[in-house]
Amino acid sequence: MHLLNGHEPSAIEKAIQLLKDGDIVAFPTETVYGLGADVFNPYAVAKIFEAKKRPRFDPLIVHIGEKDWLFDLAEHVPSEAKRLIDVFWPGPLTIILKKKAVVPDIVTAGLQTVGIRMPSHSVALKLIREFKKPIAAPSANPFGYISPTKASHVVKMLGDRLPLILDGGNSVFGIESTIISVRPDGIYIHRHGAISVEDLSGIAGPIHEKREDGICESPGELPYHYAPVKPLKIIQSIDEIDREQSSFLAFREPMVKPKSKHIKVLSEKGDIREAAANFFSFLIELDNEGVEIIYAEKIPEVGLGKAMMDRLRKASKKYRHTTR
Ligand code: TXA
Ligand code: MG
Repeated sequence: MHLLNGHEPSAIEKAIQLLKDGDIVAFPTETVYGLGADVFNPYAVAKIFEAKKRPRFDPLIVHIGEKDWLFDLAEHVPSEAKRLIDVFWPGPLTIILKKKAVVPDIVTAGLQTVGIRMPSHSVALKLIREFKKPIAAPSANPFGYISPTKASHVVKMLGDRLPLILDGGNSVFGIESTIISVRPDGIYIHRHGAISVEDLSGIAGPIHEKREDGICESPGELPYHYAPVKPLKIIQSIDEIDREQSSFLAFREPMVKPKSKHIKVLSEKGDIREAAANFFSFLIELDNEGVEIIYAEKIPEVGLGKAMMDRLRKASKKYRHTTR
């Protein structure tokens, strides 16, 4: 692991080379340190989750270098969002909007929305601008730890799992960005953070607390959540597949041909990281096929396998519930 001064041009160059090669890099932001990867490389994004050892997938924030990059990522940018961006970007405000198809599903953990922010830290901005592409990044802490606000925190927590940490001094805010979504019926706060509700409402009027009923949306709302609508069953062996009118999400190349009409193989060789990179987009694809049921092969619960099984179990609970 290298720890380099992020203000040095050679350090930025090294970071960019790593990002281009599909690697992950820790970098400073004004809120907390982030663990970044090329947003358009699902395999690199899978490495973020792997390094964090999270037992589940969380959607990642996409960090952009210029305000207008937003329009390449978001389907529609309401005028209230534009107003907030004019005031608070670059800075610690993350805005959730409906995503364009170019944003890989692993970045948003299968949601049809994407959280975007333009950080104000000079090293973060330089890195993103010179990389010329957005960087997906959660906070650079392993699961269960608090967010790092100094390069030395990242060294201690993740040093053995990262090729490079850029040092940009202490994060001035020291708490994460405020996360909001702008919906047709108002602005909702998803996470309180570095920008206060008072500051936001001064610009945009009343702000609502996020409702916990995300899945039951009122008519006219954007699809904020994705959960497979088809019943999903986790199976140990493909013998359990007894109908053709089904989709099959295989972990590795099956030895015998399954009955299912639609089959997706997460990783032919059974590579967990490759499987994770494909996981959400394959699941969404299979869900959209006109079948009665999705069968999913049990995934070994090592590394990212845990996070994938967590997601499958949630989906299968819904199946048990609806078929009871
Ligand atoms: O200040 C920050 O926001 C830092 C720096 C690195 O930018 N990042 C950060 O990322 O705190 P993370 O992954 O630790 O927290 C991001 C949270 C997720 O846990 C999730 O709750 C929320 O942002 N989020 C991201 N995209 C979302 C989406 N499409 N819908 C709902 N929530 C989303
Ligand atoms: Mg975090």
